[in-house]
Amino acid sequence: MKVLLLLGLVAVALAELTSFEGEKVFRLKPTTDEHVTLIKDLALSMEVDFWSPESAEQVTIDIDVDIHIPASHTSMVYTILNQSDMEHEILIEDLQAQIEAQVESRTVTPRSHSYTKYNSWDKIQAWMSSVSAANSDLISRQVIGKTYEGRPMNVLQIGKKTGSPKPAIFLDCGIHAREWISTAFCQWFVNEAVTTYGSDSQMTSLLNQMDVYVLPVFNIDGYDYTWKSNRMWRKTRSSKSGTSCRGADPNRNFNAGWCTLGTSSNPCSDIYCGSKPESEIEVKNVADFIRKNKSIIKAYITVHSYSQLLLFPYSYSYQLAADHAELMHLAEAATSALTSLYGTQYTPGPGATTIYPAAGGSDDWAYDLGVKYSYTFELRDTGRYGFLLPESQIKPTCEETMLAVKYIATYVQKTL
Ligand code: ARG
Ligand code: ZN
Repeated sequence: MKVLLLLGLVAVALAELTSFEGEKVFRLKPTTDEHVTLIKDLALSMEVDFWSPESAEQVTIDIDVDIHIPASHTSMVYTILNQSDMEHEILIEDLQAQIEAQVESRTVTPRSHSYTKYNSWDKIQAWMSSVSAANSDLISRQVIGKTYEGRPMNVLQIGKKTGSPKPAIFLDCGIHAREWISTAFCQWFVNEAVTTYGSDSQMTSLLNQMDVYVLPVFNIDGYDYTWKSNRMWRKTRSSKSGTSCRGADPNRNFNAGWCTLGTSSNPCSDIYCGSKPESEIEVKNVADFIRKNKSIIKAYITVHSYSQLLLFPYSYSYQLAADHAELMHLAEAATSALTSLYGTQYTPGPGATTIYPAAGGSDDWAYDLGVKYSYTFELRDTGRYGFLLPESQIKPTCEETMLAVKYIATYVQKTL
């Protein structure tokens, strides 16, 4: 009886997973205003999931536009594209097949946490307590609040315990649910910190003098939803009266030019700014924590994917940051450290001109609060796999990213 019940539950859980069979990801290369109009019209006439940029409004000439098209519309999109002279290619032939290929067969993956695999929220949560317990000399854990659905948001404070407050770096991953490589990076960072402290001179010196606060999964509800229901979910999971669409974009919900450029006030949009700044509890919890620790936080680093960029303020405005020259210089040096390992090319620059203008982001908010060294990483790749970066790339991606993060951290340490 119990077994039957269990089987029934498993069947229900499986049935609720959205399938992406026959769905495709196209890359379009608009070079004229007509091409841009064509893409915008396409987005109006059918359901288009924008991968890069994140919405039709952000499409301009001379940028690559990666869009995910439902199976029922792929032949129509083919026809339209072939009739136009816009250059285009297919990035992913069958999204469902790609999703299944990304995570090596779930039934045979070990039940335990692994740094070279994508881990579910349950595994990450268990890992946070075990890694903290096993490294109690270096890690302390605190809950900065709960998510909309009630999950605890743990921040790991990593550094030598000196008994007095140290200058710090705040690092978060997983603001956007589907960017799994981001979340993998924060776990990698924690492991590198605890395993190389005492042997790597750069890490040792850093953790002796500073603390790194790591929030491994910012948008936990969304992340869990990408595992259990819809792999392509981006936003939080909050509900709002008057609409059945859920969630807001946490990286449009910070109080920095809120809901102006590159964002939407439509709750169904993937770049919905929310009902007010910090309407999303996860955003409020992080903002409260950073405000409270403002005097010690010297750098803010947030990790996204994909595009291979190292961005800094501003994104809500085309105006250059007061510290533009220094931020650019440091970003160039950090990206060349990254590239030195495997040759992965990164582009550094201010958000608005390097990717697209988009207001309400955490990097701009932290910078305007007074955290001068504020950076957004957009990790691998440049679109071949997009959000579905294979597990075989977790290790090289994290290794190279460590070089850039350590470069920035060491620079900041030297300015103290
Ligand atoms: N892809 C990121 C996003 O759309 C870029 C973030 C850059 N920073 C920003 N404040 N928009 O959220
Ligand atoms: Zn993102």
